[in-house]
Amino acid sequence: MTHQPAIPTLSAADPEIAGLVEAEATRQHDKVRLIASENYVSRAVLEATGTVLTNKYSEGYAGRRYYEGQQNVDPIERLAIERAKAVFGADHANVQPYSGSPANLAAYLAFAQPGDTILGMALPDGGHLTHGWSVSATGKWFNAVRYGVRKETGRVDLDQVRDLAREHRPKLIFAGGTAIPRIIDFPAFAEIAEEVGAVLVADIAHIAGLVAGGAHPSPVGHAPVITTTTHKTLRGPRGAMILTDAEHAKAVDKAVFPGLQGGPHNHTTAAIAVALGEAARPDFRDYAHGVVANAKALADALLDRGYELVSGGTDNHLLLVDLTNKQVGGKPAAQALDRAGIELNYNTVPFDPRKPFDPSGIRLGTAAITTRGLRPEHQPAIAEWIDRVVTAAAREDESGLDTVAAEVRELLAEFPMPGYVA
Ligand SMILES: Cc1ncc(COP(=O)(O)O)c(C=O)c1O
Repeated sequence: MTHQPAIPTLSAADPEIAGLVEAEATRQHDKVRLIASENYVSRAVLEATGTVLTNKYSEGYAGRRYYEGQQNVDPIERLAIERAKAVFGADHANVQPYSGSPANLAAYLAFAQPGDTILGMALPDGGHLTHGWSVSATGKWFNAVRYGVRKETGRVDLDQVRDLAREHRPKLIFAGGTAIPRIIDFPAFAEIAEEVGAVLVADIAHIAGLVAGGAHPSPVGHAPVITTTTHKTLRGPRGAMILTDAEHAKAVDKAVFPGLQGGPHNHTTAAIAVALGEAARPDFRDYAHGVVANAKALADALLDRGYELVSGGTDNHLLLVDLTNKQVGGKPAAQALDRAGIELNYNTVPFDPRKPFDPSGIRLGTAAITTRGLRPEHQPAIAEWIDRVVTAAAREDESGLDTVAAEVRELLAEFPMPGYVA
């Protein structure tokens, strides 16, 4: 038994599921986890998610529920809200969205009508599906106009954002994305939104932990509506929040419930409160800055080995590597890396000539390995492993992958994982 908290009752009741949970704990322990949207939550957050709060229905908001028996849930939700407001310095917080996608849908529901024009970042350039991409409901039900990055710099093209905003007068502008390795210029977005009368939505799902820890500028004071997941750099449970200024609070609350959702997931709300309590502590600032220091060190080590990084480097937790000059696609490289104990995802790069399911790039992030305790001095070794595996993948040579996996396990054995004991 390696999972912590231990799961003896589950093991007895459903050994099949318990076995897979145990195997997942070991997998997470043994791999260098570089998926940019993932992390390891604390044991306290894990415990909160596994409580009897999952039994309770609480449609509505604290003090205004449609079900009785909220003596404990109301204070839990109020604590989560107060902590969110304090950590981010926001006027208002809604902690009920089930995840990042519904949080973004709530912003549409609150401030736009179907068919209205919205402006978001194109998916292949680093935007999220819910910023108006064609296959998403947001792209089907709204008239989505998309901006991207500059070819020469790999950075968000703010001139294009301004030009498109002036031409199309969107109701909503989304700033933020899933594969943006550079600081997002929230004041510049705010100026554009104000000029055209749009509501600026800052989607900080990826960088929320960095914002909370002072390692990325905050959108508070620039974007009246801020959506975020709670499970990436913020290191909380799967869930989401919407932060707003006072003016936009009511519309967002109405959109989340009753507009879009029924009962909030109270076990998640409790775990969000716990994670926000952790994020308010001074050591979380060290964590957030450590994530960025590790990403920069990993970027430098990969650049030294001739890797091409979109935008030439990183300011945050995330790196986007274009493997074109290594003569291998992102997908075979990611698959070989996974077999070698290095977990990441294949990703399109801006202006990618290849298809999204077989793109040119890989995306890496340092949120999880920083939680594990890895530091900048460990990044050259990770870059060296990546290089060995990518070089082998280009030759379709699988012979060295197990050796790398063993070396990875040996390093990681020194770094405890919350949620696992050997
Ligand atoms: C920027 C951004 N927004 C929204 C989401 C959606 O979050 P979820 O997967 O929780 O629906 C993601 C997830 O990757 C994201 O990166």
